[in-house]
Amino acid sequence: MPDSAPPHQHADASPPIPAPKFQGPQPIDGVRHIIAVASNKGGVGKSTVSTNLAVALAKQGAKVGLIDADITGPNLPTMFGLPAGFQANSEQGLHPIDRYGVKLISIGFLLPVGSPVVWRGPMIGTGVKQLLRDVPWGELDYLILDLPPGTSDATMTAAQDVPLAGAIIVSTPQQVALEDAAKAIAMFEKLTVPVLGIVENMSYFITPDTGQRLEIFGHGGAEAAAEEHAIDFLGAIPLATEIRAGGDDGRPIVEFDPDNPVAQAFRDIAQRIAAKADVLAQMAPPAAPAHTAQANRPAPAAPTPNERSVI
Ligand SMILES: Nc1ncnc2c1ncn2[C@@H]1O[C@H](COP(=O)(O)OP(=O)(O)OP(=O)(O)O)[C@@H](O)[C@H]1O
Ligand SMILES: [Mg+2]
Repeated sequence: MPDSAPPHQHADASPPIPAPKFQGPQPIDGVRHIIAVASNKGGVGKSTVSTNLAVALAKQGAKVGLIDADITGPNLPTMFGLPAGFQANSEQGLHPIDRYGVKLISIGFLLPVGSPVVWRGPMIGTGVKQLLRDVPWGELDYLILDLPPGTSDATMTAAQDVPLAGAIIVSTPQQVALEDAAKAIAMFEKLTVPVLGIVENMSYFITPDTGQRLEIFGHGGAEAAAEEHAIDFLGAIPLATEIRAGGDDGRPIVEFDPDNPVAQAFRDIAQRIAAKADVLAQMAPPAAPAHTAQANRPAPAAPTPNERSVI
C-alpha cells in the first residue's frame, strides 16, 4: 500500500514560513508632509534652498524638521552655524537640535571637520532610514529632506521608506544642470513620487554698483523645463553674495536679513510649496492597508551585514 504523504514531506513538518511582504512606505507618526529637495547635479543649491525653505516655513508658523540626508557630505551644520562634531561625545548620541525654529539633524553633528564617511550604498540607505524613523520628531507640519546629488541610495531609501508628499527639484539655468534636473524628475516619476515643482537657483545677478541684471548662467531654462515636464515652476532665486555668506556663516538669509528681496523670494517659494503639499494631501486617496500600499513602488533593498547604526 503506497504511503499517502508525498515523499518530500514529513508528517511533523512545520508550516512554511510566509515570505516577508513589502509593506510600502509607512507614515511617520505625527508628521504631515515629508518633502525631498533634490537635483541630480551637485552644487546647485539644494542645501541652501532646504535651509532657507525650512526656516521660511517655520517663520510662517509651521512646525518644521530638516534632515541632512547627505550622509557622506553633510553641510547643514555649517549652514545652521553649528560646529561639526559637537555631539560626538554626547551621552544622548546623535539627536536633533532646535535652530532658527527648525528641528535639524545631521550626521555632521558626530563628525569632526575633515572626517569622511566612507560607507557603501546600503549603509547610507540605513543611515537615512534611521534619521527618518529613529528620531522622536513629534508633531511636524513639514519634514524636509536635503538629499545628496544623484539618483542615490539616500533618494531611493527615502522614496521607498516614507510616503513623500513630493520632491522639489533645484536647478541652475545652464543646459547641463537642466539635463540633470530632467533626470531627477524622471527618477521621481519612476518612484511614483509627485514632483512639487522646480526652483531655478542662481537665476540672475544684480550688480551692486549699477543694479544691472546679469544672466551669468543663462535664464529661464528651469521655467521652460517645468513647462516641458508639466510640473510647476516654483520661482527663481538670484545669485547673491548674501546667500553664499549666509551659508558659510550659518546665518540663513531668511532669518538674518528678512527684508532682503532674496529672503522674500524664498518665502514666496515656501508658500507655494505649502499650498501644493496641502492640495496633494487632500487629493490623496485614503490610506491603503499596509500590505497593498504603494504596491507599484520598487521593493526595498535587502539589508546587508554591513548595515550600521548611526543613532
Ligand atoms: N543663490 C545663490 N547665490 C550665491 N551662492 C549660492 C546660491 N545658492 C547656493 N550658493 C552657494 O553655492 C554653494 C553650493 O550650494 P549648496 O551647498 O547649497 O549646493 P548643493 O546642491 O546642496 O551641493 P551638494 O550637491 O554638494 O550637496 C554654497 O557655497 C552656497 O552658499
Ligand atoms: Mg547639499
